[in-house]
Amino acid sequence: VQISYVAHNGAVHKVTASLGISLMEAAAMNRVPGIEGDCGGFCACGTCHCYVDEKDAILLPEMHELERATLDFAYDVTERSRLACQIPITEQMDGIRVRLPARQY
Ligand code: FES
Repeated sequence: VQISYVAHNGAVHKVTASLGISLMEAAAMNRVPGIEGDCGGFCACGTCHCYVDEKDAILLPEMHELERATLDFAYDVTERSRLACQIPITEQMDGIRVRLPARQY
């Protein structure tokens, strides 16, 4: 599926991602700047913070307690914030745009 990562400065990185890997892994495999994933996807670092538009949020799994807690470590958190490592890519997410924050640290 196609995923577009939109950097804070508006630069778009479009990647082709396999089903089942996370939004963080797809970004890392394609060297998308602006997303770190320091903990390797264990929901422990908060450096895979991203924003998902309201219209797309329905395509994602609900946020669990641990994700919510780890998001507290991220910067510039909003209602649209998610941790990319906690979102496995599904077929329905084809064409989705994921916005990245200005910083992860
Ligand atoms: Fe560390 Fe997502 S990669 S919380």
